[in-house]
Amino acid sequence: MRKLLAALSVCLILASCGGSGSKPSADAVKNLETAKRLEGKALLTKNDCLTCHIEQEKLVGPAYKDVAAKYAGQEGAANMLVDKVINGGSGVWGDVAMAAHPNLSRSDAEKMVNYILTVK
Ligand code: HEC
Repeated sequence: MRKLLAALSVCLILASCGGSGSKPSADAVKNLETAKRLEGKALLTKNDCLTCHIEQEKLVGPAYKDVAAKYAGQEGAANMLVDKVINGGSGVWGDVAMAAHPNLSRSDAEKMVNYILTVK
């Protein structure tokens, strides 16, 4: 009898927790997005990006807010920018070339580019 009661109460607890359905709350989604952004931002600091780029003003390279505005809503832009960060290149914002970052992993480059594309 004791065992049955214990099992019953576990069922009740589980039911009350899962009761709202399996969809994550809007807050949880927002927290996850914030966490991803912060990771991208931290990677920019960890790498050499900030010696040539700041968010709001042109330095050696374009301001990240200008990059975000230029590619807003463009399909495939993120992928193209990831390639550019890894391989380097010039001619889009002027004659100065961006150095290549051959040792950067694609997934880290993606995190940084995804962050850059959210800068306003
Ligand atoms: C030595 C200076 C320098 C460093 C370091 C640098 N960049 Fe750049 N970046 C540039 C320049 C210059 C451009 C403009 C290139 C062009 O006109 O095509 C640029 C362009 C970009 C663009 C836009 C590319 C395009 O085609 O529109 C992105 C995104 C970017 N950089 C991200 C990064 C990230 C992320 C890092 C760090 C991993 C980084 N940059 C490090 C100089 C730099």
